[in-house]
Amino acid sequence: MNRLLLLLLVASFAILSVRAADDIVLADFEGKDYGQWKTTGGAFGPGPAQGTLPHQMKVSGYLGRGLVNSFHGGDKPTGTLTSPEFKIVRKFISFLTGGGGWPDKTCMNLLVDGKVVCSATGPNVQPGGSEALAPASWDVGEFAGKTARIQIVDNATGGWGHINVDHIVLTDRKPPALLSDQKREFKIGKRYLNIPIKNGAPKRKVCVSVDGKAEVTLDIELANAEPDWWAFMDVSAWRGKTVALQADRLPEDSAALKQIEQSDEIKGAENLYREPLRPQLHFSSKRGWNNDPNGMVFYRGEYHLFYQHNPYGCPWGNMHWGHAVSRDLVHWQELGDKLAPDEMGPMFSGSAVVDWKNTSGLGSADKPPQVLIYTAAGNPTVQCIASSIDGRNFTKFSGNPIVKEITGGNRDPKVIWHEPTKKWVMTLYVGFPDPEKKDAKGKPARRDTIHFLSSPDLKNWTVLSQTEGFYECPDFFELPVDGDATKKKWVLTAASSDYSVGTFDGAKFTPETEKLKGHRGRGFYAAQTFSDIPAKDGRRIQIGWLQAPSPGMPFNQAMSLPLELKLISTAEGPRLTWTPVKELETLHAKSHRLGARTLKEGDVNPFAAVNGELLEVRADFTPAADTTVTFNVRGVEITYDAAKQEFIVNKHRAPAPLRNGRQRLIIYADRTAFEVFASDGLTYVPMPVIPKTEDQSLALSIKGGAAQFTTLEAHELRSAWK
Ligand code: FRU
Repeated sequence: MNRLLLLLLVASFAILSVRAADDIVLADFEGKDYGQWKTTGGAFGPGPAQGTLPHQMKVSGYLGRGLVNSFHGGDKPTGTLTSPEFKIVRKFISFLTGGGGWPDKTCMNLLVDGKVVCSATGPNVQPGGSEALAPASWDVGEFAGKTARIQIVDNATGGWGHINVDHIVLTDRKPPALLSDQKREFKIGKRYLNIPIKNGAPKRKVCVSVDGKAEVTLDIELANAEPDWWAFMDVSAWRGKTVALQADRLPEDSAALKQIEQSDEIKGAENLYREPLRPQLHFSSKRGWNNDPNGMVFYRGEYHLFYQHNPYGCPWGNMHWGHAVSRDLVHWQELGDKLAPDEMGPMFSGSAVVDWKNTSGLGSADKPPQVLIYTAAGNPTVQCIASSIDGRNFTKFSGNPIVKEITGGNRDPKVIWHEPTKKWVMTLYVGFPDPEKKDAKGKPARRDTIHFLSSPDLKNWTVLSQTEGFYECPDFFELPVDGDATKKKWVLTAASSDYSVGTFDGAKFTPETEKLKGHRGRGFYAAQTFSDIPAKDGRRIQIGWLQAPSPGMPFNQAMSLPLELKLISTAEGPRLTWTPVKELETLHAKSHRLGARTLKEGDVNPFAAVNGELLEVRADFTPAADTTVTFNVRGVEITYDAAKQEFIVNKHRAPAPLRNGRQRLIIYADRTAFEVFASDGLTYVPMPVIPKTEDQSLALSIKGGAAQFTTLEAHELRSAWK
């Protein structure tokens, strides 16, 4: 009896002491090479990756600086990485894993006696997804005392054909399980649910249901503990109802759902629009990611700007249409998301028109509807419409889709009214895989086309013709040449902003130019122009996605300034010009107009009195043949090299011809981007750049020959958000 008790005591003590044993880090992959681990094949490279590899989405969630990342050479290479033998002396093996979710193909195995006894994969088997590593573990109690190896396998060559692993630990502390049924319900009495976000955390699938009916499924980097920022979900439409959020694969000890707050305020928004990297001249979303501008239309006295929006994260994802309006193109009011992902897929890019004659029947004779035409990017990928008669409330059309899939991934409908044929005309991006040809990476090449379709009523569409060589986000519009309404030309452009000028007979676009260069800078994409600007104004105004990151902020990316487009004739033929809209002048706070003068090398900086974070600079000058003119705007150099007829904007060269010997320059400087306009607008140089906050100076200096200025002015600007 006594002996038994003693034995029991000893045994329980032994268990206790084992329980308290320290974790053993089997591998943290912080070294230059894999040490005693052995590789086969090329996928694992010569040693641990220092984070993200070339052409890979951003890898996050690993510890320290190094990790196993079998994306060396892309998805194609295969191989294995095998540990030396070790003894199983703890109850659990915990690790971080990410990448492909292919069982047996992109996996980490535990081998005991040469047999696979445990296996884990990453989470991804579909395009999209995330490169974030997430915690996982095995209960290895039954193998106590045995000798084992870990083998990491990449035997997949297609999409998500790689695996990421880090921080493999033997531990006696049971790692938290990932549960798939964690759920929280809210009886909605307020406007928002504030949701805690941790940038780079593994994306959890969050299913939102209303009174038991599934509404939308989102991918959210939920914060298990302290969030980086709070996203908000507008739940005002569900007042009085029960909204449930159910998260997939959430650690059992996560505080994510507990932290969600119902409120009439956006949490953490005391500083809204005054955040350190909030663009002050450019539109950006209150929260989350934006890409393409969408649905740009002038309706009932307002410019409407919709945009590709991830309301719940700083990377791309969860595509909604965000919505903002402005009466002057300068001051914007964000109104919230208007199109949310549905059973047809996420809401990809598209356009908007005013259906003046109510051809669609979605409004009435005295209430012409605003019609949004968008891509639902599910499988199949289809084109759909939604409408409104007040510019605020939008209803998806019950007869969607209005255009069936032509080829997978066809997208980005831009619709215009074509008066001569009295029909709606849609330009739509349609790609055809071209198995005959291979691209640089050896994948089947794609033949990019823009399809032209027409419709009497926005609901029934017929394919008319197609044009080759343009990719994503087409736009199509007519412009007078040199302002002469009797000399009009059609412009076809697409995401890169390259364009062709030609004619259009209502069915077919006939280019009269080769494909011409659009913008000459960086980070400008997927621009579109406003529909239905009143004829008495007559301008063609474009806004592009300005790919200007705002690191550390609860939002990411921005929109370009509104740009007026014109066609002017040049010796080479008609060409597009881009100039900032005149409305931006309302932001002038303090103007320094220096008047005409000649400046030469060694002259004092004429702008010594300027001090501003937000600046507009205008200069018209005639340089000598060897002159260089440098504007140093808050530490960012913008130099005109007259010999080469080029602007160098933050080290990036852009051709900028003199026009009648003269250069005409406009610079806008904001917190995350500059925009430079030269050569009467023939050269537009957008440039994402974050100048130092402390440096608010402006300097002008000349080298080589003199420069004769007819205009020389700088304007300190006020924020558009005040
Ligand atoms: C261009 C684009 C579009 C697509 C959208 C999705 O940036 O790829 O073609 O509709 O973004 O967000």
